[in-house]
Amino acid sequence: MIPVCEPLIGDNVQPLVRECVETGWISSEGKFIREFEEKWAAYCGASHGVAVANGTCALQIAMSALDLEPGSEVIMPSFTIISCAIAIIEAGCVPVLVEVEPDTWNMQLDEVEAKITPRTRAIMPVHMFGHPVDMRRIKEIAAKHDLRIVEDAAESHGAEIEGVRVGGIGDMGCFSFYANKIVTTGEGGMVVTNSAHYAERLRSLRNLCFRPDRRFLHTELGHNYRMTNIQAAVGVAQVERVDDHIDRKRRMASAYRERLSGLPIDLPVERNWAKNVYWMYGVVLHDEVPFDAVEFARRLRARGVDTRPLFLGMHEQPVLHDRNLFRNERYPVTERLARRGLYLPSGLTLTMAQIDEVSDVVRDVLGNSAA
Ligand SMILES: Cc1ncc(COP(=O)(O)O)c(C=O)c1O
Repeated sequence: MIPVCEPLIGDNVQPLVRECVETGWISSEGKFIREFEEKWAAYCGASHGVAVANGTCALQIAMSALDLEPGSEVIMPSFTIISCAIAIIEAGCVPVLVEVEPDTWNMQLDEVEAKITPRTRAIMPVHMFGHPVDMRRIKEIAAKHDLRIVEDAAESHGAEIEGVRVGGIGDMGCFSFYANKIVTTGEGGMVVTNSAHYAERLRSLRNLCFRPDRRFLHTELGHNYRMTNIQAAVGVAQVERVDDHIDRKRRMASAYRERLSGLPIDLPVERNWAKNVYWMYGVVLHDEVPFDAVEFARRLRARGVDTRPLFLGMHEQPVLHDRNLFRNERYPVTERLARRGLYLPSGLTLTMAQIDEVSDVVRDVLGNSAA
């Protein structure tokens, strides 16, 4: 079986992890936390980084740090992971969905403007599958309507808009370093920001809102979302290799494009102002293919190719319907992606021979699509 994704753990990881173990600095105290925060923030063009346990809690503390009044509306895409909606809801706010573009899978920016009401306070653009959202337009909209911006760049480390990297553009940018991400710490996350105010709020929320003046006196509820020094050590080593990781993803994408062009599937795109980092290579079945993504995945798996489905839209989530959210809303592009899309093996360790093999199997399965 060709796995859908395996992490690339370089030979520079072990000495740093060993140092943590040998010196006993294994908790969230320790020099690698600060070093990882500084290096990742600098890479993203931001002045502060706050490392946390995963990408979901990065989004949660970023939303909390905005200190929006309860009931504030926050605009987010329909096609994303539930972490985005959870972060908005747990901050006492109301998520408002917008449909995504059929080719980049990013939020439709005209729709963002159309969904703004007097209660809108923030936008959460999600840079999907490696392709950046056009932040020039998001910034314009936000400035015009006095809105805050929390970027979700979990899947798009190093993606660029006219040479500017994602994450450091909005008020805050959130990252995941889960094992399938371009830079990984196993589990992990970070919020980057250019605001000293937000950085201080984030550090407090990450660590139970301990007050600096009197330990164990609390005037606000926080969380224990701390990252360990061991994870940060892995992160420091991974950041050293990020350019290589992105080059691998881009080479993988162009190899797949060459081999899969002409088949009845949509392939990832790259706008002329964008650098797509092709986090995972997602494809969408054309309508003429007489089976859905579940069957496509089953046929690929039977031939030794592992895949994963795409997100199911937020408007199709029973847990959100139970909260009276999105009950009668329809987002046809999102629904199509959920039913007709999947991603192919695209981990950093994937070889060209494996890409050849996957492509041959995809071609066969689609060639015999009526069978
Ligand atoms: C777009 C997006 N945001 C947030 C997250 C949450 O990150 P984590 O799994 O580290 O909590 C993910 C997860 O992979 C994601 O794909």
